[in-house]
Amino acid sequence: MKSANSGTKPASRQGRAAKVIASIEDAEHLDGPAFALANAVALPQRIGGTPGQRVQNALHGTWFGHPIHPSLVAIPIGTWTLAVVLDTLASVGAIKGTAIDRTSDILVKAGAVGAVGAALTGLSDWHQTHGRSRRVGLVHAAVNSTALGIQVASIVLRSGGHRIAGRLASAASWGFMFAGSYLGGHLVYRLRQGVDQADRSVVPRGYHPVLPETDLQEDQPCRVEVWDEVERAQIPVVLVRHRGRISAMGARCSHMGGPLDEGWVLNGGLICPWHGSRYDLESGQPLDGPSTCPQPRYHVRVQDGMVEIQREQDPGSTAVTPQEADAARRAEAIPDKTASAPQGRKADEVLFEHHQLLRGLFRRIEAMPADDPERRDILRTLASELEIHEHIEDRIFYPAVQPVSEDVSIAYAEHQALADLLAATLKLSTASPAFEEHIRALHTAVDHHASSEETSMFLEAQRLGDRRLRELGHELETTMEEERTSRFQSAFRHLKISLLESVGKAG
Ligand code: FES
Ligand SMILES: [Fe+2]
Ligand SMILES: [Fe+2]
Repeated sequence: MKSANSGTKPASRQGRAAKVIASIEDAEHLDGPAFALANAVALPQRIGGTPGQRVQNALHGTWFGHPIHPSLVAIPIGTWTLAVVLDTLASVGAIKGTAIDRTSDILVKAGAVGAVGAALTGLSDWHQTHGRSRRVGLVHAAVNSTALGIQVASIVLRSGGHRIAGRLASAASWGFMFAGSYLGGHLVYRLRQGVDQADRSVVPRGYHPVLPETDLQEDQPCRVEVWDEVERAQIPVVLVRHRGRISAMGARCSHMGGPLDEGWVLNGGLICPWHGSRYDLESGQPLDGPSTCPQPRYHVRVQDGMVEIQREQDPGSTAVTPQEADAARRAEAIPDKTASAPQGRKADEVLFEHHQLLRGLFRRIEAMPADDPERRDILRTLASELEIHEHIEDRIFYPAVQPVSEDVSIAYAEHQALADLLAATLKLSTASPAFEEHIRALHTAVDHHASSEETSMFLEAQRLGDRRLRELGHELETTMEEERTSRFQSAFRHLKISLLESVGKAG
């Protein structure tokens, strides 16, 4: 009964919070005041012209490449929380002294300064929002402003010698700040305010013809689309001919997804029709906010009268271009006169065989009677082999195929998920129904992962060429053998498995 009750409480708390948020999102009567306030916020910039625009850019964080508001909110959250902790400890007599009180006063004041900065940057971001986000943002601002107002009152009380009242005021303010942070989180994580809204599709990886060159008029943005097979979607791209040069960037504005192909060219930049962000035609960087995030870029060339584009990869992107695949193939084709051709099996063959071994171990465990004590031994062998498999792939195979396969990053992530599921399975009694459920789930997960390697990554790996795959196969086999036979490594692995089994053991 106890566990049933404790299981429902968080859900009902979540339900209450969701209801409050939903009522704010639906509160149409907030639209009037929000409209008036947004106009008031925009007015100084309109009056100020270019300097006003610069101030807005500074507040948005266009110069910083990131919104400024989230960085500034950390100041009141940190300082006011610490002040409440010090106040509480001082109130209960755990710490004493005027230095503590002075520190607390300084923290409250520093937080108030940070909160003013957070309010200015937040207002600047907020005035470009619409609909539900604007309503939630308005309440978020009102709640945080209340928190700031109470802290100002606390500062006055503290400096007037009313320390207890000042402490109580700071504690009350902290509550408002917490509620305000919750709404701020909702704005970002649920309503996607401030997150990059551009299409970051990696296609086309090679040059792809999109438009006859003669169809492009000077300073008239033109929309084209490329098909992304993975996303199963058309990705819009905007082409602009400016002073004879053709440039291309993603057509969906990173700020809130506005259609840049419906925008216009001004001062060497492409302006978004929704909120006026201006993007540099060459670099895709925002020159004016509210956007803080560069647009996806495309290389452009003209061949046989057709404009061709190729996606310029973002830093850190693992997309494989045809050039990279070619380079990998050419590197393989250069004969190495000093080395004889490697013999033995290719990496994908070695790994496939090991996948089969893992599948066989799963089948054995599943076929055994639940109370068979040998089940635990086979489970340990499975855990050990799975660990070895993941280790040699992570260390040897994945880095080698990274240049020719973009499945690698997801494969790393899947290894983590498999390790988590294995850890949870090891803690269970092999005779329990929960174990049956877990071992089936783990089997499915391993099978899914291994099958996607076999049907995708291993095929892409063939681009590395026969020689390289055999070298890798040799390295995989040797390492696997070492891991199995090394006393130190197997002792370490067994210790890890025992810890996984015993710590936090279920039932
Ligand atoms: S969508 Fe807001 S500036 Fe483009
Ligand atoms: Fe794997
Ligand atoms: Fe694998």
